Amino acid sequence: MPSGPHHPTEAARLVVLVSGSGTNLQALLDAAAAPSFGAAIVAVGADRDGIEGLARAERAGIPVFVERVGDHATRDEWDEALAGKIAAYKPDLVVSAGFMKILGRRVLGSFPVVNTHPALLPSFPGAHAVRDALAYGVRVTGCTVHLVDAGVDTGPVIAQEAVAVRDGDDEDTLHERIKTVERRLLVEIVGRMAREGWTVSGRRVRLGRA
Ligand code: GAR
Repeated sequence: MPSGPHHPTEAARLVVLVSGSGTNLQALLDAAAAPSFGAAIVAVGADRDGIEGLARAERAGIPVFVERVGDHATRDEWDEALAGKIAAYKPDLVVSAGFMKILGRRVLGSFPVVNTHPALLPSFPGAHAVRDALAYGVRVTGCTVHLVDAGVDTGPVIAQEAVAVRDGDDEDTLHERIKTVERRLLVEIVGRMAREGWTVSGRRVRLGRA
């Protein structure tokens, strides 16, 4: 797995992938406005049109692209096309921030990808993590920032934070509380990755230079 970036004098180039409201993207946009953040969002990509995530990027004057699975004969062709769109922006790091598609081999083989997930992995992977945690009845859940590998939310964990489940929580109230924590954690970790680099040893990720 690649590690880096390793040119601390320049801002790291980020491509952010979204599928929905893009509040995590917004947190990154806000943070990246300060040069001291050490990273710049150079493009935002999505798997669908008409989402608030893309509108947020457009309002910030950042180029956007859309690659729909349904426009391709196979998943591999979609993966290839998405990798091409991302590559055009020469990212040091790709951030999956509410991107609700499993990335393929071409994307994952070309760029380091970090994902934010609204549960404490390996508990509750997949697209309905908050609903699944509530249904299970856990009293503590949270969020995970992790490197993406070929599995579903199985890549090495970088950081996690716990969030208590309250009596009376429903999926929306719990998800909103998780997202408040998640946005802060994602900004912190992406900034540190950009400024300090990272190394991976087995399943252990260490931020900072070796
Ligand atoms: C976030 O909670 C993110 O962790 C989750 O979607 C939300 C997107 O919110 N992602 C997944 O569930 C991926 N399995 P946002 O669009 O407001 O940033």
